[in-house]
Amino acid sequence: MTAESGGPAGEQPRPRAVMYIYSQTGQLRDVADALTAPLEASGWDIRRVDVTPRIPFPFPWSLRSFFGVFPPSADPEALVELVEPVDGFDSAPDELVILCYQVWFLAPSLPIRSLLKKHPEVVRDRRVISLIACRNMWYSAAIEFAGLLRSAGARSVEVVAATDTQPQSASLVTTLRWLLTGHREPFLGFGRAGVGEDELARVADVGRHIAETTRCPPDAAPIVPKLAAADLVGGRAFRRWGALVRSAERFGAVGRAVILTLFVINLSVAIVVVFPLVAAVALVGGTRFEKRIQAFLRPRFAVGRPATAGATLTEFYAPEEAGVDSGS
Ligand SMILES: Cc1cc2nc3c(=O)[nH]c(=O)nc-3n(C[C@H](O)[C@H](O)[C@H](O)COP(=O)(O)O)c2cc1C
Repeated sequence: MTAESGGPAGEQPRPRAVMYIYSQTGQLRDVADALTAPLEASGWDIRRVDVTPRIPFPFPWSLRSFFGVFPPSADPEALVELVEPVDGFDSAPDELVILCYQVWFLAPSLPIRSLLKKHPEVVRDRRVISLIACRNMWYSAAIEFAGLLRSAGARSVEVVAATDTQPQSASLVTTLRWLLTGHREPFLGFGRAGVGEDELARVADVGRHIAETTRCPPDAAPIVPKLAAADLVGGRAFRRWGALVRSAERFGAVGRAVILTLFVINLSVAIVVVFPLVAAVALVGGTRFEKRIQAFLRPRFAVGRPATAGATLTEFYAPEEAGVDSGS
């Protein structure tokens, strides 16, 4: 645990944040740095805590290990052992908690889910920003994550999301190639895999906005309605398939392999069928479709009500003391 912040009497304390992070390739770390650089430039004190699985996940992934992590990813109760940092996982009451995570099979990755489930005290009664960096399907994961944050007693949660902005089919190819071979650079007319410079610049703008106003701008996590709709459909299907694979495990490795193979076949068909279908529905539904998706998602991501724009630091850290309703 770090010491409480404070300066000479009468001086405004330095705003503080603690950031929890696990990243295999460094992508999430780059996004987190883009967010925090403007905060540090304006005087914030930011502490970083590594979230490290005791048994490392491979990178690049073999096909077997990649799909092998699907059943636990799709199981909201599945956890992994984490290495305890020397100073522990605690956050201080005056720290803004920035929880960074990537998405694995439409769910928060196993290391960050494990942190939140094993150490809910990290976010209890804290203001939280969850920072997501993934290919482009983060919606079901953000709903699961908000549920975990609510159960852990977070005071408020805002979401920042950075994605690969290439067309859906191109990002599918480049991400799979990157994850399975380690090669991220452009090839055969496809762009570089993962979150690009455009998104890093946008996340830096979000950081500048937080530095100025203590809160995220409303568009910190842009919602793409047709992707969100496909993600929500896929998220439910993934949880059912995950349960099916787990129940097949009582028939041993063969039972598991058979159901997992059926899942992969089903996934390939779904990618070809579901995306165009949802795109067609989105086209027909127009702005009504977009509004319904937005209205469905927004309240499910956020927890409580963040400090108002232009809030003083006292309102930011201790809204009750400052007479501000935190909404929790
Ligand atoms: C097993 C696995 C499953 C993934 N599933 C998704 C997914 O469902 N949606 C998505 O947008 N990105 C998905 N990704 C991409 C990750 O969210 C992330 O962008 C990538 O792994 C790089 O993260 P890093 O910061 O850990 O290097 C997946 C990656 C892995 C390894």
